[in-house]
Amino acid sequence: MKKNDNIQIAIEKRIQEEVDFLNNMSPNGLYAPIAYALSNGGKRFRPRLLLMAMEMFSEVTNIGLDAAMAVEVFHNFTLLHDDIMDGADLRRGKETVHRKYDANTAILSGDAMMIYAYKKLEGLDAVLQAKVQQVFTQTALEVCEGQQYDIEFETRDFVAIEEYLEMIKLKTAVLLAASLKIGAIIAGANNEDADLIYQFGLKVGISFQIQDDILDVYGDAETFGKQIGGDIVSNKKTILMLLAQKSASKVDGKLLEHWLSKEIFNKEEKISSVTSIYNSVGVREQAETLQQEYFDEALESLDAISVSVARKQPLRTVAISLFKRNV
Ligand code: IPE
Ligand code: IPE
Ligand code: MG
Ligand code: MG
Ligand code: MG
Repeated sequence: MKKNDNIQIAIEKRIQEEVDFLNNMSPNGLYAPIAYALSNGGKRFRPRLLLMAMEMFSEVTNIGLDAAMAVEVFHNFTLLHDDIMDGADLRRGKETVHRKYDANTAILSGDAMMIYAYKKLEGLDAVLQAKVQQVFTQTALEVCEGQQYDIEFETRDFVAIEEYLEMIKLKTAVLLAASLKIGAIIAGANNEDADLIYQFGLKVGISFQIQDDILDVYGDAETFGKQIGGDIVSNKKTILMLLAQKSASKVDGKLLEHWLSKEIFNKEEKISSVTSIYNSVGVREQAETLQQEYFDEALESLDAISVSVARKQPLRTVAISLFKRNV
């Protein structure tokens, strides 16, 4: 069996153990929703990156698996709150926590998940724990900053591409980057390599969020597991929207403005009309070009890390598979 498969199996096994444990905790009203969120699947991309970084510099350990759980639980916490903020009904093909239970549950269970994530780092020795926690705390704060920008941009008429890139770096890319860096730190990588792998993660992360924006419009609902067009409904300033605003004809530009300012509308009608504008402007192709640029830059950072090409290959392969993902 390939090492990468071993990592995936180890992650799923650990998550199942967490789910079983949480299902037996009291009060059940707090812990069952956490177990529900963790047991609904997902790509487990962040823990995978963390453990693959460890393997690149040294080997996977039990302590590493704890840190991998920390980043996955943290990620899932952000999703509980994100789905309230975005008014999303579906996640991973299932009801979101705030729909299955209620908003208060999603808020408090989400809070508990964030704290639980920190608890997972308690097993690290003091020196390592201080280093890892510093990365973790800074990242957590940045994710909140990114989420705040994302929400503020909904009500802004104009957002520059640079502002968008900063926003997605914060809301999404820093957690991927931090997962890799934490893996590198635990595995004893030097500072320079830890920084390079962080840079690799940032670029992969930016390309990952651009893909998420594309899939929100062009994905297959069944595979993607989220409601298609959700970003259009809530006036998200996604890369597609910004590119459309920038290059649309006068007529299409007016129509976009109309949909962005309309407060009462039929969701399907808005999604289909805005998607038609995206199609006529060709924003998908433009977004894919930008995504490719970040992806190429990511590989340059990976290339610069001071371990053998063979040791870097698994991360390269995973990055490529994510770049092409439709999930
Ligand atoms: C969803 O993350 C939130 C974003 C940052 C786009 P993922 O696409 O990694 O979600 P799961 O965990 O695989 O469901
Ligand atoms: C998610 O961005 C970023 C975080 C959860 C921090 P999105 O709002 O685009 O993620 P999805 O599309 O709901 O997964
Ligand atoms: Mg969302
Ligand atoms: Mg969001
Ligand atoms: Mg999205």
